[in-house]
Amino acid sequence: IADVQEAIDHELVSSKAIHDKITEVAAQVSRDYAGKDLLLLGVLKGAVNTMAEFSLAVSIPVGLEFMSLSSYGSGTTSSGRVTIRQDISTDVRGRHILIVEDIIDSGRTLAWLVDELRRRGAASVEIFALLEKPSRREVEVHVKYRGYEIPDEFVVGFGLDYNERFRNLDSIAVLKPDVYQGVQA
Ligand code: PRP
Ligand code: MN
Ligand code: MG
Repeated sequence: IADVQEAIDHELVSSKAIHDKITEVAAQVSRDYAGKDLLLLGVLKGAVNTMAEFSLAVSIPVGLEFMSLSSYGSGTTSSGRVTIRQDISTDVRGRHILIVEDIIDSGRTLAWLVDELRRRGAASVEIFALLEKPSRREVEVHVKYRGYEIPDEFVVGFGLDYNERFRNLDSIAVLKPDVYQGVQA
């Protein structure tokens, strides 16, 4: 595959739609947290592009931290177990935290993270998830800032990967079937 666009079967959310949604949520967050000390916490690696674009659109001064979590490994279905690949070193006690995520699927990653941050003494914990797959939800998680609901198809792009590739696609899309059937990226 010479170009990531060639691997796309169909697009679900365009680059423009992603940008517009992130801008809209950032304006809302800037209003909601005006006068508060807000920490944006990105969940690597999937949230990398959402966080980059979102943080630039937020107009109040915020802190940026990243935690690297994994629930998927290399397959296309969630393992249900959350592994910390890299933790934050910041003390979150008394901080208002907004978790920035690319997608909520089973909900296990975010349910675990919200519990963990509360256990560490955060003053408040809310979530911005760019994408949601409602039909795949296994655990209840309150998502205050929501982007797009998508069907239960395996999607890549804007941070989301298949086997650590296609995070650098600028839209959200479904790959051609032959990409999963061993064609090298
Ligand atoms: C993906 C995605 C979310 C999580 C959602 O991350 O980026 O973090 O899975 O799934 P869940 O709601 O079922 O927990 P992944 O584990 O693939 O790691 P990555 O972000 O490094 O790709
Ligand atoms: Mn992730
Ligand atoms: Mg992944």
